[in-house]
Amino acid sequence: MNFPKLFSPLQIGPYQLKHRLVLAPLTRMRAAKPSLAPRPLNAEYYAQRTTPGGLLIAEASPVSATAFGSPGVPGIYTEAQIAGWRKVVDAVHAKGGIIFLQLWHVGRVSHSSFQPGGVLPVAPSAIAISQELKTSTTDGKVTTYETPRALETSEIPGIIDAFRQAAKNALAAGFDGVEVHGANGYLLEQFLQSRSNQRTDRYGGSIENRARLLLEVTRAVVDVWGAGRVGVRLSPYGIANDSGEPEPMPLYSHVVEQLNPLGLAYLHFIEPRSSGAGRAEVNWQNVPSAMVLFRPIWKGKLIAAGGFTGQTAEDAIAQGHADAVAFGRIFISNPDLPRRLQRGYPLTPYDRKTFYGGEEAGYTDYPVHDELAKA
Ligand SMILES: Cc1cc2nc3c(=O)[nH]c(=O)nc-3n(C[C@H](O)[C@H](O)[C@H](O)COP(=O)(O)O)c2cc1C
Repeated sequence: MNFPKLFSPLQIGPYQLKHRLVLAPLTRMRAAKPSLAPRPLNAEYYAQRTTPGGLLIAEASPVSATAFGSPGVPGIYTEAQIAGWRKVVDAVHAKGGIIFLQLWHVGRVSHSSFQPGGVLPVAPSAIAISQELKTSTTDGKVTTYETPRALETSEIPGIIDAFRQAAKNALAAGFDGVEVHGANGYLLEQFLQSRSNQRTDRYGGSIENRARLLLEVTRAVVDVWGAGRVGVRLSPYGIANDSGEPEPMPLYSHVVEQLNPLGLAYLHFIEPRSSGAGRAEVNWQNVPSAMVLFRPIWKGKLIAAGGFTGQTAEDAIAQGHADAVAFGRIFISNPDLPRRLQRGYPLTPYDRKTFYGGEEAGYTDYPVHDELAKA
């Protein structure tokens, strides 16, 4: 058997994982329309990727109707969506898996056509994403990003409430935990970073102020779930969705230090080398390693993600840089990824064209390896 560290047990909060290979959160845009509730096809997809004692982080799920920026992503704010997620969770639990849900607000990475009433998306400040990046409207027209509307200070408690309610909804759906999406240029990261946050109230300006919303949201979610069942995902040195803090170290050191006392299940870092992997094949060179930089500051369990192979995941754990490693793209095309890596079987390549939207093709039709199918 390969990779003894990767396939060794790990305690995460109250959960005893049987191995350390985690399914990364992956947006696949295949929820039911118009309810945006998960459907049986989604349950099948997650069940295919479940191993006994394995951790899955379910795809980013908007916490409210205004938190959306793309079609067909499953929400976590209506009864129908909770009921749909419950079927996903049941399918994963039936196979002995552990599943967290990623809670998401896209902020300015949206378009007015996705917003109730067709209003502008909200953000920390009225600063648009670079016109070089494109998005699309609800009817699929490719366009540039609009200048978002800056949230009033009085609206911030409403954002925190939306995360709190979504956390309660995830609890009602039977999830084992939740992950706060603080990465990839979405709302919470827009608040963290000075390029997207030029507010002059207590949520902007100093590092302490810019970190406030992420910390308040995380504390609200911890109040609902208890500490050991909440993770946070961060992408320092990332550039996804026109993000990028000029000097990430002071900002993210502060964030990690403030998260330390919360007793989280884990902190989840995206390696900068694969920042933006959702949009294009990237392999940035000469960029720092998030796990290496922040491991000395973070006192809890650390999940690393981004561009790992079985061997580099094994090495990261053996060297003490990470406790577990999340896999995205190759887990899409290899539903049996943990067993394949453990036994050294070749991997099926993924097809980027079928990442977002559609039905079974490129979703639930990737094969299990012949030898594993026989077993
Ligand atoms: C199709 C696709 C969808 C993604 N969706 C999400 C998401 O919902 N939330 C998130 O935090 N990251 C998302 N990511 C980033 C992945 O979780 C992961 O960090 C990235 O793919 C790098 O890991 P990999 O090299 O193993 O693929 C997505 C990436 C891809 C390719």
